[in-house]
Amino acid sequence: PENGLGLYSAEQTRQLDRSAIQDQGIDGFELMKRAGRAAYRALRQHWPDVRRLTLISGSGNNGGDALVVAAMALEQQFQVQMLLLGGEQTRQKLRGEARQALEWAERRGVEVRAYDPEEDFSGELIVDGLLGTGLSGEVRGDYRSLIERINASGLPVLALDIPSGLCADTGAELGAAIRAQLTISFIGINTGLLTHQGPACCGKVLFDSLSVPDEVYQAIPTGIRVIGPSLLSRCLGPRDRTAHKGSFGHVMVVGGDHGMAGAVLMSSEAALRSGSGLVSVVTRPEHVALCTGHRPEVMTHGVDSGQDLEPLIERASVIAIGPGLGKNAWSGQLLRVVQAQQVSLVVDADGLNLLAEGQLIEPVRRDNWVLTPHPGEAARLLGCTVAEIQADRFSAVKQIQQRYGGVVVLKGAGTLVCDGARIRLCSRGNPGMASGGMGDVLSGVVAALLAQGLDAFDAASVAVEVHGRAADLLAAKAGERGLAATDLIAPIRWLLNPSLA
Ligand code: APR
Repeated sequence: PENGLGLYSAEQTRQLDRSAIQDQGIDGFELMKRAGRAAYRALRQHWPDVRRLTLISGSGNNGGDALVVAAMALEQQFQVQMLLLGGEQTRQKLRGEARQALEWAERRGVEVRAYDPEEDFSGELIVDGLLGTGLSGEVRGDYRSLIERINASGLPVLALDIPSGLCADTGAELGAAIRAQLTISFIGINTGLLTHQGPACCGKVLFDSLSVPDEVYQAIPTGIRVIGPSLLSRCLGPRDRTAHKGSFGHVMVVGGDHGMAGAVLMSSEAALRSGSGLVSVVTRPEHVALCTGHRPEVMTHGVDSGQDLEPLIERASVIAIGPGLGKNAWSGQLLRVVQAQQVSLVVDADGLNLLAEGQLIEPVRRDNWVLTPHPGEAARLLGCTVAEIQADRFSAVKQIQQRYGGVVVLKGAGTLVCDGARIRLCSRGNPGMASGGMGDVLSGVVAALLAQGLDAFDAASVAVEVHGRAADLLAAKAGERGLAATDLIAPIRWLLNPSLA
């Protein structure tokens, strides 16, 4: 869809299930069979040579999905080891569709055995139906040791709906979580699958709607969506043939304290290559020769104080402030001079740290800025710990937006973009991006897209998407290790011209 795939909380997916069953009259066990069938198909497709399965069920409906897969696999002459954690006690606890699935599977010859920690896994692959979206609180007791044993086994894992132990809402590991190669998610993808520890636990994510009709989704709206390719095509149309350099704005990058010229070089280069009509840099006077020599297209101004910056500002349509800015009297002055103007801003790095330290003029809230914190900067902005930010990234990005206004980009695996009402999630990117300068490049791309007239929410969303996709393209070609921030600039340019892509 134009707006990207919707993401749902555990509670919302329960509502989707309920609506499919009650409003659309689809039988609950029929839905479970569809889930099992979809999972079985995915398994065959991804592991065509596997013939022996170990399937694991807990006491909830997630186990019912696993029981259905077990019956289907047995029918196709697979060797099936179907294990129920908690044995007879759990068997008594199975309710509703999970009980139906147990009886259905047993009628088809599946031998359901109590999980015994002494017994080896006989499968070449594990199907995880231990804990689904019904997980509440930290994983307890036997569940935890079984999860750890599965992870230590070295066997590939297919997770049904969600890897056991992962929080469906936040993507936090609740004590211990399954590390799967493939996760197949049913009816609605949960918000936690694609951010924080979600990507590491899920591996590849597949989605199957189980043919639930659109009406169900319309009845339960979500404000959280994955950024999809249609956003790029909508925002990056062909350029007006009569355009001139004034048509595409003027990005001014402010930063580069002593020893930090690289940050403004990278940010301004990214802005230039992302299509800004004009790009200039405001930095320490000692960096002017270097910057001009490096890139003659970019105008570089050396300033000793805020006063020197003031007359330059009116030329800019967007100011990106923060790359290599430092935290001293010089940087504080520059930030306050910029803040006093109405120009659109992108604030990154030390710009955010100064903001967090109360170095700006009150009130700091502003509509026309994009803030791009990583979890560390986010923690400073909210006065909490990084762990608290990561424990619920969705809530953190909303809180920062509420406090500071504008559009907030919370970076890190599963980057989130929030404009107050909506959140977009970027599912691109890889650990190759964990190297210096990546943020400087991103700030330049955001600024250039703002300068070309995209609204702040779109500019930030398109920028994080092409930034992540560029890194994925490069990692696929030459690996994650050794990826440098400036490597991204060429593929970003290419992705921003979708008629070529
Ligand atoms: N530690 C151990 N056990 C737990 C914990 C915990 N922290 N939290 C919940 N449980 C147990 C509960 O006692 C409950 O019996 O796990 C069970 C919840 O099982 P789920 O399968 O996660 O939840 P349920 O709501 O039954 O089913 C949701 O069904 O539609 C399918 O796969 C889909 O994930 C979805 C699942």
